[in-house]
Amino acid sequence: MSGTSAAAPSGDHLEIKDSRTGKSYNVPITDDTIRTADLKQIKVNAEDFGMMGYDPAFMNTASCRSAITFIDGDKGILRYRGYPIDQLAAKADFLEIAWLLRHGELPTQAEYDQWVKDVTYHTYVHENIKHFMEGFRYDAHPMSMLTAGVAALSSFYPTAKNIHDEKERDIAFVRLIAKMPTIAAFAYRHVKGMPYVYPDNSLPYAENFLSMIARMSEPKYEAHPVYAKAINILFILHADHEQNCSTNAVRAVGSSHVDPYSAVAAGVAALYGPLHGGANEAVLRMLEHIGHVKNIPAFIAEVKSGKGEKLMGFGHRVYKSYDPRAKIVKGLCDDVLKISGMSHDMEIALELERIALSDDYFVSRKLYPNVDFYTGLIYRAMHFPTDYFTVLFAIARTAGWLSQWEEMLLDKEQKIARPRQIYTGYAERPYSTKLDYSHKITK
Ligand code: SDX
Repeated sequence: MSGTSAAAPSGDHLEIKDSRTGKSYNVPITDDTIRTADLKQIKVNAEDFGMMGYDPAFMNTASCRSAITFIDGDKGILRYRGYPIDQLAAKADFLEIAWLLRHGELPTQAEYDQWVKDVTYHTYVHENIKHFMEGFRYDAHPMSMLTAGVAALSSFYPTAKNIHDEKERDIAFVRLIAKMPTIAAFAYRHVKGMPYVYPDNSLPYAENFLSMIARMSEPKYEAHPVYAKAINILFILHADHEQNCSTNAVRAVGSSHVDPYSAVAAGVAALYGPLHGGANEAVLRMLEHIGHVKNIPAFIAEVKSGKGEKLMGFGHRVYKSYDPRAKIVKGLCDDVLKISGMSHDMEIALELERIALSDDYFVSRKLYPNVDFYTGLIYRAMHFPTDYFTVLFAIARTAGWLSQWEEMLLDKEQKIARPRQIYTGYAERPYSTKLDYSHKITK
């Protein structure tokens, strides 16, 4: 028995035959995808819910249409709004890129100057932020402090809930891009037991951040130009990366129409994980654990056995070749290490990479260094504590999270994110209990 369930679409389509019913279906193909909603018509019985797609961790599922970042994992291509990442990293300024990611075009000089001025004059945070920073122990992980600090900003700007008001979105972009470095620096100074350093509005973005981190009694902090340049480039490289785990979190949380501060706080929390942004911290701990190049073969054997930890900083869901960002960061490493001295960890990292890239276990699985493999070495060379590396990632990714959040909000196809499930639990069963609810708490 065959009968198309719907008029065959004139364009490209999949012809699906359901062996359970013998029925055939034509499902339209657009952008080399099918809408899984079009599968719903496929049923055995009329009262069935209809067919769904099943794709744990979204390994092969597009959740949105986006024009912000393009990645070709096989060719190692990464572009922000069409511009190749290596050209942007070599020449651009991070705030220029933050503008590009949101607006889709590079800013004019007037737009850039106004944007820099707006960000500069919003770097201060409410004094109360300092008080709840005090609530954290001296050894609190700075990512916990950053997650809390960003979420708290929501309470200081209640009108941010008016997410359909473009002016409210404009000021939220300015405030978050401006205040992330300040909250991050306050977290750093709290953990160090040092007084907070307020923003210096005469300094550019990267230099101001380094000033809030490192200034002591000097009236004005002079960041080392190589370090300031490294921070600017690393912020550009980490600014966006299409639908990664933390961006997916920001889009999903933002789809409930919560304010952008709360949505970005969800992104910070997702980035904290060692499989995602926490990997740069995990790389350094892995290098410390290896300790010496002579221990690398035994470590690699442990990774390959599957019993040890993963080779942190290697592998990627999308890149099945060298992460283009890793190449740029590796070059940056050389510049920074010339200032701070070749680190023992760098020797281990270079040897680890050399061995891994010649070992079939990694090559066959297309496991190459990702953006996190070398970033940690630069941050370590700049004397940032290991548990602070992901905070630096979060400052930069705020530009991408906000741009993706707004694109989701303005996308007419998007609604509140609410996936379905395949139920694997009990069928209906009657409830009965023999519990005694007198709450006799035995001593
Ligand atoms: C970031 O998505 C993004 O864009 C993220 C990011 C961004 O800018 O937002 O690029 C930033 O998060 C970079 C990734 C940082 N994470 C790490 O470096 C942690 C180590 N890497 C892995 O955990 C892993 O590679 C992932 C999480 C990055 C990707 O995992 P996938 O795509 O789910 O791949 P998988 O776990 O299914 O691995 C496939 C195979 C498995 O072996 P088999 O079961 O086939 O035998 O490769 C193995 C894995 O065990 N494998 C590794 C490995 N990564 C994967 N084996 C050893 N070391 C590794 N690092």
